[in-house]
Amino acid sequence: MSDVAVIGAGYVGMTTAACLARLGHRVTCADVNEERVAQLSQGKVPILEQDLPELVAEGLASGRLRFVVGATAAAREAEFVFLCVQTPQSENGAADLSAVEAVAREIAPVLRAHAVVVNKSTMPVGSTLIVARELAQAGAPTDVGVASNPEFLREGQAVHDFLQPNRVVIGCSNTEVAVRVSELYAGVQAPVLVTDAASAEMIKYASNAFLATKISFINAIANMCEAVNADVREVALGMGYDTRIGFEFLHPGPGYGGSCFPKDTAALIHTASEHGYDFSLLRGVVEVNREQHKRMVDKLRAAVGGSLDGVAVGIWGLTFKANTDDLRDSPALAIAAALLAEGARVRAYDPATAPSAAERVPGLEGLEIVTDPYDAVAGAAALALLTEWDEFRWLDFGRVHDAMDAPRAVVDARNLLDPAAMRRRGLAYQGVGR
Ligand code: UDX
Repeated sequence: MSDVAVIGAGYVGMTTAACLARLGHRVTCADVNEERVAQLSQGKVPILEQDLPELVAEGLASGRLRFVVGATAAAREAEFVFLCVQTPQSENGAADLSAVEAVAREIAPVLRAHAVVVNKSTMPVGSTLIVARELAQAGAPTDVGVASNPEFLREGQAVHDFLQPNRVVIGCSNTEVAVRVSELYAGVQAPVLVTDAASAEMIKYASNAFLATKISFINAIANMCEAVNADVREVALGMGYDTRIGFEFLHPGPGYGGSCFPKDTAALIHTASEHGYDFSLLRGVVEVNREQHKRMVDKLRAAVGGSLDGVAVGIWGLTFKANTDDLRDSPALAIAAALLAEGARVRAYDPATAPSAAERVPGLEGLEIVTDPYDAVAGAAALALLTEWDEFRWLDFGRVHDAMDAPRAVVDARNLLDPAAMRRRGLAYQGVGR
């Protein structure tokens, strides 16, 4: 069992720390946010993430997991230091590495001999070399190793994805260091791919860009299906039986969002152009995604007679997907902002979003968030279902009908509801691509 430091207690850091403790390691997780550290030390997990509270509680109780303020406090004794700090998107689309570089400089003087620094956050190709350079310049022992070990965690299923991954990727040209990192995952049953750092970094970006491409592709096909009167769900099913294509990531919707796909596609396009390559395919993927947000607004506008000015619209679902409370880059927020900009009066309900959230999101000051799905549609001419929360299936649509005003348009951006049942209730239903 190893002594591990995890720097950053965000989505990735908390999951990495709790899961490595589950695998038997002694883990110290550090963050600069004192309040967050205090909360986590009491077992309070500040995000909605399945199984994470249980795992944090288990780690704290066993003594294998603790939370501290500041990177040096955690890194001092560690054999492995996982960097899980944020790499936000900067103005030009590139990933901003300043937090990673700052942590590398901060921990360098206190690192033990033979320690290994592991890049877990999504970082552009070349970052492992940058971290190695920062460590060396800031006085780290010369035998400190650096490796890339990208995460492939889906929010809402992050614990599952960490402990039962499809693969573990380790990027490091020093075989001894790579083997040591791989041993941390001894309790995990998955293929381990050891490669060079640049390839490991590229695997992460290529995977996310490919998944984003699948989504934009099926969204484009959905738009075609609307034009030719086909049903995209049948099309996706028929495509998915081809094992080369598969069934997953072929659900049309309002476009992808979240903390990864929008940022990682922008960063990969930026990296490509920096190296003289115009990644036009991926630019198209991003463009289709942007248009998809707009198409949902177009559907709503058309459904209420051509203008949204002064029209009451109810929204169900604000998070970028179900089973998370994450609003980052959520298509629902982009759509709500566009509706507000056209003069609509928008009232939203989301199972994981408190009314106070509207104040925190720029451009959404006019959005009213309520705590009851029926309140959201009271007096509304249209309902936009934007996140696939399961509870929306089971609501009383007779009550929804009675609460709404004509024309009672329902735009189901996730194809969650049954069109025939909706029409029977007197609701003017539209899905995506069907
Ligand atoms: C993603 C990757 O899946 C994960 O491997 C990576 O490390 C981080 O980014 P996440 O952002 O949590 O994870 O969500 P994911 O479930 O992949 O969905 C991303 C977005 O695509 C969501 O907005 C979702 O609604 C959308 N999506 C997904 C679709 O519109 N259609 C689909 O078929 C699948």
